[in-house]
Amino acid sequence: MDHLLSIEDLDRAAIERICDRAASFSEVADREIKKVPALRGRTVLNLFYESSTRTRSSFELAAKRLSADVVNFAASGSSVEKGESLKDTILTLGAHKPDAIVIRTPWAGSAELVSRWTPAAIVNAGDGKHEHPTQALLDVHTLRSRLGALDGKRIWIVGDVLHSRVARSNILAFQKMGAHVTVAGPPTLIPRGIEALGCDVRFDLRDLPEADVVYALRMQHERMDQAWVPSLREYAAVYQVNGKRLQPHQVLMHPGPVNRGVELSGEVVDSPQAVITAQVEAGVVVRMAVLYEVLAGNRAKDRTPITAAGAPA
Ligand code: NCD
Repeated sequence: MDHLLSIEDLDRAAIERICDRAASFSEVADREIKKVPALRGRTVLNLFYESSTRTRSSFELAAKRLSADVVNFAASGSSVEKGESLKDTILTLGAHKPDAIVIRTPWAGSAELVSRWTPAAIVNAGDGKHEHPTQALLDVHTLRSRLGALDGKRIWIVGDVLHSRVARSNILAFQKMGAHVTVAGPPTLIPRGIEALGCDVRFDLRDLPEADVVYALRMQHERMDQAWVPSLREYAAVYQVNGKRLQPHQVLMHPGPVNRGVELSGEVVDSPQAVITAQVEAGVVVRMAVLYEVLAGNRAKDRTPITAAGAPA
């Protein structure tokens, strides 16, 4: 695997291979010295144009646990604020010869674009509303540890599907693993035509009790340029996953950060059914497995080098 840009590029066997490797890395976290030399001498550049708590810290920790050198680059405080374009930034940072670039931006398709401008392996850590493939992989890993195989499981993804890159990646990944996915939310927050991905669509939570897994999404205020719901209070009245709506047999997930009292009530966040912290924990080992895959796995040897101008040599 040269890059991880989208769940679309992975088949079920590849998802299982990454999750199995992640499981084998879990043991490293329990050691006194939490490090293995797998990526010694490699450089990983974390390039974040959007805020992040979990994703950035877990990529950094993942690279360090594999003994790679890590450079963290946040767009704020950099020359990006002086108007440097994404391409120029990539070419400039390319001078540090990173072996992998982990990138998050607000622009759909940016990870794929960047993969054309640098010989480094690109890992998409979220490109606008498009995809967040490592989130989907860590969610599959979390569910496999909790439930075993996902075949035949019913997973409901509830909330702001329209603005969610997590929803898109997770619909694809859960289905590849044999689960049946339903998306639910207000009509304004469900993208038209999403059934084409193979999921069911509901505009209310009446049938939520049929779900084995309830995956709540954050209301993505930062991507909303108009009023998509009458008010957060009205949204919560109809779509909040709370103690009345969550059934005792259901597993509750959320990618974080949670808006307590909006998409989830505080009581369900703190309930034993929530695996939100387990998801964060899975983030480190799954990202270790992804970095290992693109840097030490069967990466094509003959990647086209590029010139300073960004064109293939
Ligand atoms: C998600 C993201 O940034 O796409 N968070 C995350 O990576 N854990 C979801 C969100 O911001 O709601």
